[in-house]
Amino acid sequence: MADSAPTVERYHAGRVIMLAVVAALGGFLFGFDTAVVNGAVVAVRAEFEMGAGLTGFVVSSALLGCIAGAYLAGRLADRQGRIRVMVLAAALFMISAIGSGLAVGPVDLIVWRLVGGVGVGAASVIAPAYIAEISPAAVRGRLGSLQQLAIVTGIFVALLSDALLANIAGGAAEELWLGLAAWRWMFLVEVIPALAYGILALQIPESPRFLVAKGELERARSVLGEVLVTGVKERIEEIRKTVTQEARTSFADLRKPSGGLLPIVWIGIALSVFQQFVGINVIFYYSSTLWQSVGFTEEDALTQTVITSVTNIVVTIVAISLIDKIGRRTLLLIGSAGMFVTLGVLAVVFGTANLVENADGVLEPILGDTQGVIALIAANGFVVFFGMSWGPAVWVLLGEMFNNRIRGTALGLAAAAQWLANFLISTTFPAMAEVGLSFAYGFYTVFALLSLFFVARFVPETKGRQLEDMA
Ligand code: GLC
Repeated sequence: MADSAPTVERYHAGRVIMLAVVAALGGFLFGFDTAVVNGAVVAVRAEFEMGAGLTGFVVSSALLGCIAGAYLAGRLADRQGRIRVMVLAAALFMISAIGSGLAVGPVDLIVWRLVGGVGVGAASVIAPAYIAEISPAAVRGRLGSLQQLAIVTGIFVALLSDALLANIAGGAAEELWLGLAAWRWMFLVEVIPALAYGILALQIPESPRFLVAKGELERARSVLGEVLVTGVKERIEEIRKTVTQEARTSFADLRKPSGGLLPIVWIGIALSVFQQFVGINVIFYYSSTLWQSVGFTEEDALTQTVITSVTNIVVTIVAISLIDKIGRRTLLLIGSAGMFVTLGVLAVVFGTANLVENADGVLEPILGDTQGVIALIAANGFVVFFGMSWGPAVWVLLGEMFNNRIRGTALGLAAAAQWLANFLISTTFPAMAEVGLSFAYGFYTVFALLSLFFVARFVPETKGRQLEDMA
């Protein structure tokens, strides 16, 4: 990272927020699509008479699509532009919603969920890239965090929409409403935000950094003029110096001349892996397992899941207010320390619980009242620390830490690593929980601690810097 002093630009706040919000809609679909399956899965399992393994695959297959979608979208964004990738993602969400909603069997459903996953992967890459590229440096962190706000809102809305549709149909996901089972409507309603995303993406301009790379200087100037009040010419010049026009970024550009990946690419991959290896999605994907072992009934577990989602939304707003002031590094360090403590408490509490044999002959921890309260506070505390730090900051950093030449490809690779890490953590959790919940949480605790050292040692501060100053 160059050592130039951060330049303060004047900008059109309304316009730039609007552009960031449209791009962040991709995050809403990312959150919605990954969470929507929760409310449907039990009914789908019954209707298609699936075993546990196949059911697990219906849930996790989307994550495999995400890996591919993230990787391909990064490269496509550097070739075809940011807007085309958004429109493509919107189309994939629509196809997947209709296909999943009308699926006639498990294979069918897995294929459509995979297609939606490709959309999620693409959206996860294109929102941070586009937002970073249209943002004035001074507020890039906040605008980038809008994506995370949209993700967690999407998770929350999917939860509500699932509950609402089950209710309308008479209380359960397998009951009929207008001739179709409620679980089918849960998938079908995603068509609405997907359509909105596609239409709105067509209304916003292409990224000025992409336009310069394609040699379209006039268009780049006019887009940047919509965002910046002053300094457009200088910025275009700076961007021009950082892109080589004949170059189409390819995987080879991520390598050092001496072989191996560039250090900055490794840092992006490691940030991604740590963000998942602290186990955040275990809380979101397996919330009922957690809350029921804390002692809640099924119904109360749902209430608790809603509370966790709202908490996550609120603390994202805290992150938005802090990220351009105290910086990405400080936020990450606070987050790592807090996650280490709260996860550690969960590991200890589950380690000291009484084990009772359940109906399947598996030993399950049963928490006493005080232990239950401590676990509840620790689990929500973990969400607080994650949501105010690693949740938004990693996406912001991935959007801004790579230079103009490699951004799409490098971000695609790092995000693909993140989806792979997500897949590994969420598919191994049931087996790890069988060994013991304290083993599972102990594992995530270790990664929270490692993440602290990693940030302290390797992650550069990018607050306030121009994208053109990223080494
Ligand atoms: C981040 C993670 C995502 C997680 C979400 C929850 O966006 O990338 O995997 O579901 O935070 O807050």
